[in-house]
Amino acid sequence: MLLPIDFAIHVVFHALALADVNTMIPKWQTRTLLHGIRAIVGGQGPPLVLVPGWPQTAEAFSDIFEPLSKHYQFFALDPPGLGDSLPPANGYDTANVSKIMAEAIHDALQEKQYHLVGHDVGGWISYPWAAQYQSRIKSLSILDAAVPGFQAPFQFPLSRQTNLRLWQFSFNALPELPEILTTGRERELMTWFFNLKTVHPDGLPKDQSERYIQAYSRPGAMSRGFEYYRAFETSSKQNLEFAKTPLDIPVLALGGASSVGSGMIQLVQNFATNVSGSAIDDCGHFLPEEQPSAVAQKLLEFLDANQE
Ligand SMILES: *[C@@H]1O[C@H](CO)[C@@H](O)[C@H](O)[C@H]1NC(C)=O
Ligand SMILES: *[C@@H]1O[C@H](CO)[C@@H](O)[C@H](O)[C@H]1NC(C)=O
Repeated sequence: MLLPIDFAIHVVFHALALADVNTMIPKWQTRTLLHGIRAIVGGQGPPLVLVPGWPQTAEAFSDIFEPLSKHYQFFALDPPGLGDSLPPANGYDTANVSKIMAEAIHDALQEKQYHLVGHDVGGWISYPWAAQYQSRIKSLSILDAAVPGFQAPFQFPLSRQTNLRLWQFSFNALPELPEILTTGRERELMTWFFNLKTVHPDGLPKDQSERYIQAYSRPGAMSRGFEYYRAFETSSKQNLEFAKTPLDIPVLALGGASSVGSGMIQLVQNFATNVSGSAIDDCGHFLPEEQPSAVAQKLLEFLDANQE
């Protein structure tokens, strides 16, 4: 059977567009900023800083680079010690880590203000970053992140659901055991974790999960990730201190409907006065990969509203 010509053309163009997406990452630039922070940079417009979580790298935002790049110059960063960024000099508490990242961005942007977006551990980092450098930041967006210091108290034993959602906070923070059990088993752990925390079978897009698995299978890489959890208590104390002066920049709180969901709004109201947000439907914990169009749209609406 012959295909109608316009459909055939559509198929060819669609295939080209897909090839584009998969091979076009080089269209973004990779740079090493101050303190050895690796950044993927692209687009034109006001600056926008993207901070990913654990166990991920700057590539977590790959599927929203394109829509963001039309309006903003984005800097997607590997946090200190993760991906290709150097480890932090003074420990993994998020006050210190965010200071390192802020200095790297301020060195690159000079006096310019910027928008800040963090997912997961990137959200832990973004809050103390905004608290310490509020005058530099136009807006803050936090995506599905249990920012240290602001959890509801839990009763033991945890429900099965809560345990599935939070086990890594206990496990990753243990001394030595996580390294003993995960060395050489990074792929198994991460594949299980990505499947657990995504809504659809097969979890994350293959090219991204392979990137994460490779990055965290290098010697010491899992350890450096665990250090963020080992510093959680210190980070909590720092945050509770910062929160005595609530942020008054606009803050967007987004959660995956099958993960933290709109609970993100209450969490963020602990440390900010002007909070908007919502749950992203049909989505687990990995917002930018699971629902890139919806996330890009929500972010762009919010960023544009705060662009003066
Ligand atoms: C950073 O690390 C140093 C040394 O461990 C510590 O004294 C300090 O409280 C930490 N936080 C900040 C914001 O510097
Ligand atoms: C809160 O943020 C919104 C944008 O998200 C802005 O339009 C509004 O003016 C802000 N309100 C206050 C009281 O600052």
